[in-house]
Amino acid sequence: MFESLPVAKADPILSLTVAFRQDTRPNKVDLGIGVYRDALGKTPIMKSVSAAQEYLFAQQESKGYVGLAGNESFNIAMQTLLLNNTNAMARAATIQTPGASGGLRLLADLIKQAKPNATVWLSDPSYVNHHPIMEAAGLNVAYYPYFDAQTKQVKEQAMLECLAGLGSDDVVLLHGCCHNPTGADLSKQAWQQIAQLAPKCGFLPFIDIAYQGFGDGLDEDAYGLRLLSEVCDEMLITASCSKNFGLYRERTGMACVISPSIEQAQNAKANLMSLSRKTYTMPPDWGAACVAHILGTERLTANWREELDVMNQRILSLRTTLRDALNQATNSNRFDYIALHKGMFSVTGLTPKQIDCLRDDHAIYMVGDGRMNIAGLLEADVQQVVEAFVAVGA
Ligand code: LMR
Repeated sequence: MFESLPVAKADPILSLTVAFRQDTRPNKVDLGIGVYRDALGKTPIMKSVSAAQEYLFAQQESKGYVGLAGNESFNIAMQTLLLNNTNAMARAATIQTPGASGGLRLLADLIKQAKPNATVWLSDPSYVNHHPIMEAAGLNVAYYPYFDAQTKQVKEQAMLECLAGLGSDDVVLLHGCCHNPTGADLSKQAWQQIAQLAPKCGFLPFIDIAYQGFGDGLDEDAYGLRLLSEVCDEMLITASCSKNFGLYRERTGMACVISPSIEQAQNAKANLMSLSRKTYTMPPDWGAACVAHILGTERLTANWREELDVMNQRILSLRTTLRDALNQATNSNRFDYIALHKGMFSVTGLTPKQIDCLRDDHAIYMVGDGRMNIAGLLEADVQQVVEAFVAVGA
């Protein structure tokens, strides 16, 4: 039966992690997959998460099924973290999903059900899994201009001109903050313009926010999302707890639908529940139960916010250290962009050949599109990275 299967295409990020693990060189450096590492090179379990796990171990009395929408306390807590009691809260409904990727797929399936000919517009470039997920749901995919390879900033004018030409058959997928892969975020002015265009043109904003708290702060990072939620009748959101709660392997995420009325939002949620039933029935519980407990306990919420801030400060400090070291080594200011970008990543502009050379000759792993995970860097590796960048002619 399976002889005719095509050779599966390896995922550019996850296959890199496998190759990294197999590499026996002691000086190897992983700047590939988007995980945070502390000064010891560990991806730690956050203390607030450990406290929640202890609570759950002591309190949880059953492993009985939870339900198709997952943990409803989690759903409300996450919706509040994102929307912060804006008016949109009253016409929003949320379902827990296996990671934000699970949320992306469910929402893509929902779009396909509601509007089979819809086109989903992605930033050029976008997260490597956006296109495959939208395509797998049978949706048309197109790209709006986003990243300027020269300035390493967003081509806001070109992007806005493109969005101005869209209409009610179009869905515009936007990164809420900390753009993956580029690290270049939209300005507040650009969000304000999108907030004018979306209701005028009738396209549906779809916000993927996987790094809330890794840019300018939890509330600041939700600026664009909250602004759009106030002015758009309809909007879709996916969010992840992988990074800001460090729950990567627990696959904890959510999908939210904002509709003109709460009845319509609840109906969309019911449709998402049927879609999840057909796909995986219900999401895994543990991570969401931890998040619900943290966000439902004032002291733990405060601890979690502090821990998130420590992670964020560490990334910011790595960004300035790397910028200074690279600028100094190349006697230029070519690397200023590293400290201007937000979140875990920056796109370096290195060519596939340079990336191969970094891996083969210098044991430095980066995704083929030139994305560097700065949150994966150790202070002790900065010199090696700088020398390797110079050696490949970065
Ligand atoms: C990444 O972009 O590296 C992460 O979000 C991991 C993933 O699932 O691709």
